[in-house]
Amino acid sequence: MTYVVTENCIRCKYMDCVEVCPVDCFYEGENMLVIHPDECIDCGVCEPECPAEAIKPDTEPDLDFWLGLNAQYAAVWPNITTKGTPPSDADKWDGVPGKYQRYFSPAPGAGD
Ligand code: SF4
Ligand code: F3S
Repeated sequence: MTYVVTENCIRCKYMDCVEVCPVDCFYEGENMLVIHPDECIDCGVCEPECPAEAIKPDTEPDLDFWLGLNAQYAAVWPNITTKGTPPSDADKWDGVPGKYQRYFSPAPGAGD
């Protein structure tokens, strides 16, 4: 199993999660992060750290789409291990529905 970053990360991108991951398996897109499913050791420490509650264990139902997206983009986005500056309007996007359809970006972030 693995943990998975889901839709509510988009445009929130708080990055508290990267600071606690013991195996540095987060990867950075322009406006969200993903977890590499083959590197995650299922420790679970990142899940409660996310202010947007965007991180879920893949044992929850209906996460196939997000598991696939995490795997796809972890292969091409750069690794990130330290918290950067979240978007200035991050709080405004917390909980907004339909963020994937409207705002998902396949562009890579800067990484570190
Ligand atoms: Fe990293 Fe643990 Fe979160 Fe997996 S569950 S991404 S290993 S902190
Ligand atoms: Fe995203 Fe939550 Fe991490 S918003 S960047 S999964 S702390």
